[in-house]
Amino acid sequence: MATRSAIITGTGMSVPSRVVTNAELESIVDTSDEWIRTRTGIRERRIAAPHEYMSQFALEASKNALDMAEVAAEDVELIICATVTPDVPIPATACLIQHGLGSRRAAAFDMSAGCSGFIYAQSVAKQFILSGRYRNVLVIGAELLSKFLDWKDRTTCVIFADGAGAVVMTEGELPRGVLASAMHTDGSMSDFIVMEGGGSRYPASPSTLDRGLHFIRMRGNETFKLAVRSIEEVSREVLAKSGLTPDDVTLFIPHQANQRIIDAVGERLGIPAERSYVNIDRYGNTSAASIPLALDEAVRKGRIRRGDVVLMAAFGAGLTWGASVVRW
Ligand code: ACO
Repeated sequence: MATRSAIITGTGMSVPSRVVTNAELESIVDTSDEWIRTRTGIRERRIAAPHEYMSQFALEASKNALDMAEVAAEDVELIICATVTPDVPIPATACLIQHGLGSRRAAAFDMSAGCSGFIYAQSVAKQFILSGRYRNVLVIGAELLSKFLDWKDRTTCVIFADGAGAVVMTEGELPRGVLASAMHTDGSMSDFIVMEGGGSRYPASPSTLDRGLHFIRMRGNETFKLAVRSIEEVSREVLAKSGLTPDDVTLFIPHQANQRIIDAVGERLGIPAERSYVNIDRYGNTSAASIPLALDEAVRKGRIRRGDVVLMAAFGAGLTWGASVVRW
């Protein structure tokens, strides 16, 4: 008897039209194109206009994914939106996306796991499909980080950016589908990447605004070393669970946090640059959106074909990290 699996049947993305180059940032903060390129790999990023908000991009990415999957919006049963930059604190942006798509039967919720959000959401979606509860699940990673950046803080504003990616996950049969996934958390380092204002601990007030608590802050250098080690370990974990090795990976899609992290992880895993997908140069770090954005580009460029083994791995605020292996 065939074994049920969760397969990715469609991918989609959407990004703001405005391109912001490193040269443009040179006129805003004390930085240089050379520093940004050599320390992060970023050349340009997409930044939303003042009137734009996250669900607009999430909705377009979702429609593109549904089109590719040839799944009607009415047939979606669950929508998970991984984000740390929702449209509004209440309600969950996934509910707004559900309405926008017309997926009346779908339950919808947001998931907050920083840059690992898409991997976490994919893992949850897989469980609902494997249990037989749902057949079609829409998983979105979408962020407008630019709205939460301190444009005077050169350690964050040159890195983070905006975009949305989505996948449709559908009930199928092995050998295709998500072969293994893993999620990890270490809350003892929760202060490494934060945005503290506006919650129940520091409700929005003139004082939180004065102290800039509504901005994202990151201890980048300490995060860097942990990111490399964690992404390597969790990648090995999911490959081992699948009975595979790094040599079996057709395409590695790491979270696009920093070109140097991607290079270091690739080197440790023995996955050469030709088998790693990189688009950080054009989009920067889009947190939960980064993997589904890269995945959609890779699929549409023909870099992923039926039967290929795709490894995805991420690390982010929480701290959280996770990975998944998919046979396409
Ligand atoms: N332009 C010029 N100089 C800069 C800039 C800038 N934009 N930013 C920092 N510098 C300076 C610093 O002030 C410092 O100067 P000093 O030596 O005189 O003190 C110097 O550059 C080195 O600073 P570091 O912080 O050590 O730089 P590093 O090489 O670590 O690069 C970076 C910083 C890019 C943030 C890197 O640490 C990184 O990518 N970290 C990982 C981020 C990550 O993976 N986060 C997890 C996901 S994010 C999420 O979950 C939302």
